[in-house]
Amino acid sequence: MELRHLRYFVAVAEEKSFNKAATRLYISQPPLSRQIKQLEDEVGVTLIDRENRPLKLTEAGEFFYDHAIEILKKSDDLRAMTIRKGNFDNTLSIGFVSSILYGLLPKVIAHFREAYPNIEIKLYELNSWQQTQGLIDGKIDVGFGRLLFEDASIRRMVLREESLVVAVPIGHPLAKEGRTSLRLIDLTNENLLLYPTAPRPSFIDYVLELFEARKLKANYFTEVRELHVALGLVAAGEGLTIVPKTLEHLRNQEVTYIPFEDGLITSPIVMSVRHFDKSELLKTLLNVTYQIYDAEGFDYKKERI
Ligand code: BEZ
Repeated sequence: MELRHLRYFVAVAEEKSFNKAATRLYISQPPLSRQIKQLEDEVGVTLIDRENRPLKLTEAGEFFYDHAIEILKKSDDLRAMTIRKGNFDNTLSIGFVSSILYGLLPKVIAHFREAYPNIEIKLYELNSWQQTQGLIDGKIDVGFGRLLFEDASIRRMVLREESLVVAVPIGHPLAKEGRTSLRLIDLTNENLLLYPTAPRPSFIDYVLELFEARKLKANYFTEVRELHVALGLVAAGEGLTIVPKTLEHLRNQEVTYIPFEDGLITSPIVMSVRHFDKSELLKTLLNVTYQIYDAEGFDYKKERI
C-alpha cells in the first residue's frame, strides 16, 4: 500500500464520487477506479459501497478513512518539518506566551547567546495553539507555553511547575490585613480578572478548573484580553488576578502578591519541539535553562533532547 493509494481513497471518500475525485486529483476516472480496486484487493475488504449514489463508505471504509487522513497529515507534516531542518539558516526561532517573557525567558536567551553568539534569535509571541502550528510549518523551532495541547508531531516537555500567586491592590482588605498566604476559597467572592479571552482554552479555563477541582466556584470573574490589562485593572483597584510567581515584580508600587497556602496551585512551563528534533541548539537551550534553574534553586525534572 502506498501513500498514493491513501490520497486517492480519501479523495473518493470526501467527494462521494469517482468522477469528482478524479477531477480533484487531475487524473481520469478509469485509473482511479483501478487504484481503489487494487487497494481493496490488498487489504482484502470492500471499502466503498458502490451500490449507492452518492457513494458510501462501508464500516471498514470509515475506519480506513479516519486512519488514512491521520497518516497523510503526518506525512505532510514530516515533509514541512524536514524542509525547515534542511534550510537551517543560523537562526533559532522561539515562540512564547507573554507570561513567559516576563519570567525567565530573557535570562534563558542571554545565556544561550553566550553559548552561540553567531546564531540569530527570532522571537514570536504566539499562544500555545499557534506554537503547535508554527512548529509544524517551520516558523519556529521551539515554543514555550503553559498549556499541554496534544499533537502527534510535537513533543511537549513540562520543564517545571511554577507556583501561582494572587495579585492584590495594596489598598484591598486582604493586603491591609497583611495576609501572608491565601487559599482559593478566599477568592470565590472576589472580582477576579482572568485572561486571555482568546483563543480558548486559555489560562482562564485553567484557573477555573483549579476552582472546580476543589469543588469551588469563582462567583464573580471578568474576562480580560490579556495579562497586562488584568494587572493594570488590579492596580486601579478593580479586582484581583492570579499570575505566575515570576511576574511578582510587575507594578509592585500598586500591587502586592500573596502566595497560595496550597503548594499545588501551579502552572506548568511547557517546552514544545518537533518530535525527533535533536538539534544541538535545542539541547543547549534546554541545558542553559537547567543551569538557571540550578542557580535559582528551582525544583524541576530533567528531560533530554
Ligand atoms: C521558566 O520560567 O521556567 C522558563 C521560561 C522560559 C524558558 C525556559 C524556562
